[in-house]
Amino acid sequence: MNKNIFELINRLNQSHSLSLEEYEDLISGYSKEAAEYAASLAVEQRKKVYGTDIYIRGLIEVSNICKNDCYYCGIRRSNKKCDRYRLTKEDILLSAAEGYTLGFRTFVMQGGEDAKFTDDFLVDVIKTLKTIYPDCAITLSLGERSKESYKALKNAGADRYLLRHETADKEHYERLHPSDMSFDTRMECLKNLKELGFQVGCGFMVGSPYQTVKTLAKDLKFIETFRPAMCGIGPYLTHKDTPFKDMPSGSLELTLYLLSIIRLIDPTLLLPATTALGTIHPKGREMGILAGANVVMPNLSPITVRKKYLLYDNKACIGDEAAESVNKLSESMKSIGYEVTVNRGDRKSN
Ligand code: 5AD
Repeated sequence: MNKNIFELINRLNQSHSLSLEEYEDLISGYSKEAAEYAASLAVEQRKKVYGTDIYIRGLIEVSNICKNDCYYCGIRRSNKKCDRYRLTKEDILLSAAEGYTLGFRTFVMQGGEDAKFTDDFLVDVIKTLKTIYPDCAITLSLGERSKESYKALKNAGADRYLLRHETADKEHYERLHPSDMSFDTRMECLKNLKELGFQVGCGFMVGSPYQTVKTLAKDLKFIETFRPAMCGIGPYLTHKDTPFKDMPSGSLELTLYLLSIIRLIDPTLLLPATTALGTIHPKGREMGILAGANVVMPNLSPITVRKKYLLYDNKACIGDEAAESVNKLSESMKSIGYEVTVNRGDRKSN
């Protein structure tokens, strides 16, 4: 056991900042004991800001049509086995209506980069949702768009935008994506979203191919300096119809350790226990909460499309009715001492 690791964890807990080298030491110094210690401090920090509240977001997977060809992703454009779909405005409104009844006050529209989702279409859907549900927040997760487009979506009433940075290391980014995608564009999009006043979410996969301690340390430093409102992390999970089909999945333990570290970097962060975490282990989401996460994003998509929105193999919860999964979630959160709340779930300041 390395005593130095505990000292680093304590320092992060106090100053919410470390050097790049120290983040590397923190990651390479992983041990069960270090992870338990980091989790105990992370839970303490999270409780100070959010008590035992868990925020839920209704995830509506609006389209699996994507112009991009990311090597890790099951809905990449070259995957001919992917059965493509696109929800209509009516489908989206129906999912939201069901979600509202179940207590959701944030709707997340997530999808591939689908050219049919024009600004006009999205602006109309956002305005309609905001008119029917003025007490709800709207989160978009629709990939890279121009600054003008982001601005139109913001003006229509969208509150938040999730765009995982995927990796804060340019070379690593280039090994995960074909050459028509660019690290600099990704970072530019994140910057634009922030400038436009969105609550911005970034994030990355744990254990993605070619990830190293060095690239992970850069991810942590990026989170520390970019100061996102949200950060989505989950294990990389293999998808059988991608170029990375032989690459091993990421680890549960490292994901949990990183969740705790990220909570220590920013106690106020909205930090989801992701579907990927719930997929790698049946109790993954609960474990995520106990490591410092405070958000869960149950699936509100029509059941018929859920098995088509497969970014990775064996995705969890594709069969459950939304009502059933929210009930199960509330029960399981209660059993570990937390409570699912009915509110927008905005970020609090400490
Ligand atoms: N395993 C885990 N996460 C994945 N994502 C895409 N493909 C996979 C995979 N195979 C993540 C990416 C993307 C988000 C929507 O899902 O980080 O930004």
